[in-house]
Amino acid sequence: MIVTTTELFRHAYANYAIGAYNINNLEQTVGLFRGNLGKIKKNEDPVDWQTAAPFILQISRGARSYTDKRFLEAMIRTADEIFPESVFAVHLDHGTEETCYDAIDSGFYSSVMIDASHEPFEKNVEITKRVVDRAHAKGVVVEAELGQLGGVEEDVTGSVCLTDPAQAAKFVELTGCDSLAVAIGTSHGAYKFAGQQALRLDVLVKIQAALPKGFPLVMHGASSVPKEWVDRINAAGGKLGSTSGVNEKEYIEAAKRGVCKINIDTDGRLVWCAIYRETFLKQPEDFDPRTPGKAFMPAYAEYIIHKNKMLGSAGQLQNVKKLLK
Ligand code: G3H
Ligand code: 13P
Ligand code: ZN
Repeated sequence: MIVTTTELFRHAYANYAIGAYNINNLEQTVGLFRGNLGKIKKNEDPVDWQTAAPFILQISRGARSYTDKRFLEAMIRTADEIFPESVFAVHLDHGTEETCYDAIDSGFYSSVMIDASHEPFEKNVEITKRVVDRAHAKGVVVEAELGQLGGVEEDVTGSVCLTDPAQAAKFVELTGCDSLAVAIGTSHGAYKFAGQQALRLDVLVKIQAALPKGFPLVMHGASSVPKEWVDRINAAGGKLGSTSGVNEKEYIEAAKRGVCKINIDTDGRLVWCAIYRETFLKQPEDFDPRTPGKAFMPAYAEYIIHKNKMLGSAGQLQNVKKLLK
């Protein structure tokens, strides 16, 4: 069942976070739906309610243009039929004003992100407000962003880019956005932290305190970049540099401080890359596209279950369903 992110956040707030996972293809989609229902091997496996979780399925602009956005939509509609117990939001990740309007008008997305965080404050407010007005008229909810994600490796000085709590309060009031992505020390991609990681929970606390009670926050760049998967990729011929991501134990700490949505894309790509590399390395005579896909889907489902346990969303599906009735 497709719901808005707001309906999911209402249940999660200050308790746990909803995983927001990016998809680009069929194998990721199947692994994602299975994982969120606690199924591993087959679509027909019974739902494991102990681990089943509500989730957010994210589509980036890159994913939309990889083949044709209509393929993604068709795949998701089909997954919704094949996995009728699932509860999820369909969310546009890092939209421009133009892609937000396209997603809103499609009638398919339940949530869009307008990312005008690179603009000066007033311009960000102006653009976000226009998107909010158009989205709300159609029952679609809006995530906006204030502050800029950086990374130690890019030598971005944290304090310049981190979200300012007072500005965040003003921004939410002026735009009417439904959730806000904040910069608290993370960055996108596999290379986030040089040495010690730097999630700024102290800044998060101040942002939470400045905003209306219960206002949902979002953390981007939240992959943990597990060493195990990086090592497996490199052992199978990859060349990823030494890297680290967000400590998974901090997901719950962020959730307690108002983060309701945690964005994970890179980790899923690492699982994909490791499995595909290992499969063909082990079976060099094989060239069937289904061979790595068959290995990837259960591995990704298992990984999603693990992530949901770290986010605290595992086992919450039945509770969310009760609330939606
Ligand atoms: O935040 C960006 C997401 O990881 C999406 O990446 O634009 O390469 O699909 P993408
Ligand atoms: P990662 O690159 O850390 O997975 O972040 C993904 C993200 O923020 C998508 O919007
Ligand atoms: Zn992001």
